[in-house]
Amino acid sequence: MPRNSIALRLSGLFTLVALLVFLLIGGALYQQVDKGLGLLPEAELDARYSVLESALTRFGNPEHWAKINNKLKLLSEEDKRIRFWVVSGDPAYEYGNPDPQIRRFAQGPLGMRDLTLPGHPYPLKVLVSQLPAKELRPPLRFLIAIDTETFYETQHQLLIALISLAIVGVLLASALGYWVARIGLKPLIGLSEEAQRLAPPRLSGRLQLSSLPPELTQFANSFNSTLERVEQAYSRLESFNADVAHELRSPLTNLIGQTQVALTRGRSAEHYFEVLQSNLEELERLRSIINDMLFLASADQGSKATKLTSTSLASEVATTLDYLDFILEDAQVKVEVRGDAQVQIEIAHLRRALINLLSNAVQHTEPGQVIRVQIDVQEHQVSIGVSNPGQAIAREHLPRLFERFYRVDASRSNSGANHGLGLAIVKAIALMHGGDVFVRSDDGMNTFGLYLPI
Ligand SMILES: Nc1ncnc2c1ncn2[C@@H]1O[C@H](COP(=O)(O)OP(=O)(O)O)[C@@H](O)[C@H]1O
Ligand SMILES: [Mg+2]
Repeated sequence: MPRNSIALRLSGLFTLVALLVFLLIGGALYQQVDKGLGLLPEAELDARYSVLESALTRFGNPEHWAKINNKLKLLSEEDKRIRFWVVSGDPAYEYGNPDPQIRRFAQGPLGMRDLTLPGHPYPLKVLVSQLPAKELRPPLRFLIAIDTETFYETQHQLLIALISLAIVGVLLASALGYWVARIGLKPLIGLSEEAQRLAPPRLSGRLQLSSLPPELTQFANSFNSTLERVEQAYSRLESFNADVAHELRSPLTNLIGQTQVALTRGRSAEHYFEVLQSNLEELERLRSIINDMLFLASADQGSKATKLTSTSLASEVATTLDYLDFILEDAQVKVEVRGDAQVQIEIAHLRRALINLLSNAVQHTEPGQVIRVQIDVQEHQVSIGVSNPGQAIAREHLPRLFERFYRVDASRSNSGANHGLGLAIVKAIALMHGGDVFVRSDDGMNTFGLYLPI
């Protein structure tokens, strides 16, 4: 069990809450009961006094007084907590052998008072009353006392009971809280177990949303869409590896085959020269594939265009066309350039992109036709599009043409310098400059191009 598990934290919080609730309720209860308990001795004294009062006031002669003495004696034997004193100054009308402390106490104020006797841990609650003179007897002070020990003991027991109840309650709340939290967290535990099962290569599964509480569906949704992207990237990577191997295999097969044939028997110097020349072509093709892949890999790792120079796009197109001069002549196509814009660009990258776009256009244009390069300045960007007349490209291909190794016509795939990375590199270059690519196929014109931010 991890130290800071949610279940533990929740049960800790439950414990705190329970402690607070018990303190509040227990405190209030204790105060209330304590108040009631405190009133009990006074109520009892009042009750006793009202029973004795009439007899005490009515009788004033010694015979009656002896009866009263007896009654008081009986009463205090009946209930050991109760004690009586009568203080008058005349020994014939006294009761309870009042010692000097009691005498002094009796002369104090009338009403309910506390009296602490030596050797008594708890004070006595005493009701002091004054009776006027009657017949032969002088005025006297009548004291009824009750021992508060039982009340204090009850109070003490109540406190202990409340504290032990609170302790048990808090312990119970924390244990139950932990249990409840575990139950509440079950969907989360289930979810993480489910997520663990979805590691590569089993990326096609998704988290089930139907059984989840609403708090977790958003999380599961984002997890699922992340998984979707990972799955796509994963499958792209897989097919990319297959494509790379495939692309490298044919030049290698050619190299090995030609070399093996040349080695079967003695050849003339011219024959070896031809074989080597053909091998060189294949090797150059290999190098260009590897260079393109390295370029894409560095773009993938987020390398950005840095050596930015302010350049006229039209003049860069013109330079590129000079470079492609022979190819254009061979293919017997012309190129028209319209518009111009000044952009901040890494020139080597731009030329590479233009060569790729223009050589694609030349490859897909019939002799005698015209390729158009259109440069437009828009609000925040410049678009540069290379259009050539040609067969319409089916809609389903358009969004995928900039993917690596994606070709409409697979039979052309092994022809010469085409290895299906040209447009992927155009896209990488556009992205490196913070731009993007576009493709259109309408009215017998196919347009490939890129946007560059201004
Ligand atoms: N100008 C164009 N006209 C028609 N199709 C094109 C044009 N340029 C590119 N394509 C299509 O896009 C695919 C990918 O182009 P590219 O990445 O340059 O690879 P490659 O030229 O090596 O085949 C091409 O195979 C082709 O099907
Ligand atoms: Mg190409």
